[in-house]
Amino acid sequence: MKKIIITGGAGFIGSHLIEKLLNRGVEDILVIDDLSTGKNSNIDKFSESNKITFINKKVEDVDNLSELFRGFDFCYHLAAGVGVQYIMENLSQSLLTNIMATHEVFEACKDNDIPVLITSTSEVYGVSEDKEWTEESRSLIGPTTKLRWSYAASKMIDEFLALSEYEEKKLNPIIVRLFNIIGPNQLSEFGMVVPKFIDAALNNENIVIHGDGSQSRSFTWVEDVTDYFIKLAEMKAYGQVFNIGQTQEITIKDLAELVINMCESTSEIKYIEHEKIFGDKFEDPTRRTPNIEKIVNLTGISPSENIESMIKKIVAHKKK
Ligand SMILES: NC(=O)c1ccc[n+]([C@@H]2O[C@H](COP(=O)([O-])OP(=O)(O)OC[C@H]3O[C@@H](n4cnc5c(N)ncnc54)[C@H](O)[C@@H]3O)[C@@H](O)[C@H]2O)c1
Repeated sequence: MKKIIITGGAGFIGSHLIEKLLNRGVEDILVIDDLSTGKNSNIDKFSESNKITFINKKVEDVDNLSELFRGFDFCYHLAAGVGVQYIMENLSQSLLTNIMATHEVFEACKDNDIPVLITSTSEVYGVSEDKEWTEESRSLIGPTTKLRWSYAASKMIDEFLALSEYEEKKLNPIIVRLFNIIGPNQLSEFGMVVPKFIDAALNNENIVIHGDGSQSRSFTWVEDVTDYFIKLAEMKAYGQVFNIGQTQEITIKDLAELVINMCESTSEIKYIEHEKIFGDKFEDPTRRTPNIEKIVNLTGISPSENIESMIKKIVAHKKK
């Protein structure tokens, strides 16, 4: 595959994907990004390659998407409202982006017979009490009055649309559900917990935990994610859903302590109730751990890092 489209390519995962694709000899990459949470600096560094065409617009505002997509081999659709804090501050816009932009991208992909990988989320499992979340686990999202679930619901709509179009033989989609991806260049300002904690620790400022810190998460290295993306596209794993994540869990309190130790910081941990930040429209899953057998068995790729090595690398990158 030589010609690739990446929506949301100026974002955290998208820019890592660009780097990897260029290293693998991709000749032409079309990036569409409105820079709402992405950064010019994430893609500036690739400008010398002359292989990137950047359209600084909302996907849903691009007039001739179908024409623009002509001649491309594959599309990674990453553009979305992302991050709990960003979603809670941009509720309706995030919903519209996640639904309308995806619809527009599917239409353009169908017109040009381009397969597409879409990035769904672990949020679609909601507060499922299954011990392990397989791709077939039942979703248990909260009521519509708890607006944080709007992100999960919009990504579920994307999944349903992709799978319906596949069933009707109109589109070749690959769906990945990402579980807390971390790595260099992830921004802290949109509520992502790891960069937020590391920034605070490096500045010896208080680390603020939302809730009591007993909630656990499993964090995944961004380079593993881009390896999976490329492999799934090469393998033409169309019409399938895959968890991408790590099985190692850590509570948010332990994460804060680990970050403080690894940064040799004097930061103190403070706790604040979710309601105080987001009001009563919020609830938080107590744990979130994927079963990753399906993707590991298919691709032969296993997660390459543990939480300690990931934090170490991010801290080293931030210090640089
Ligand atoms: N990072 C994670 O832990 C995680 C977890 C689950 C799912 N995801 C999904 O992965 C994808 C990439 O996330 P990320 O972590 O790189 O976040 P990110 O915010 O860095 O990337 C999203 C990019 O999309 C752009 N964007 C947003 N709305 C747009 C629009 N309407 N048109 C054009 N561009 C738009 C943003 O400017 C940004 O560059 C998203 O779809 C997200 O929902 C990420």
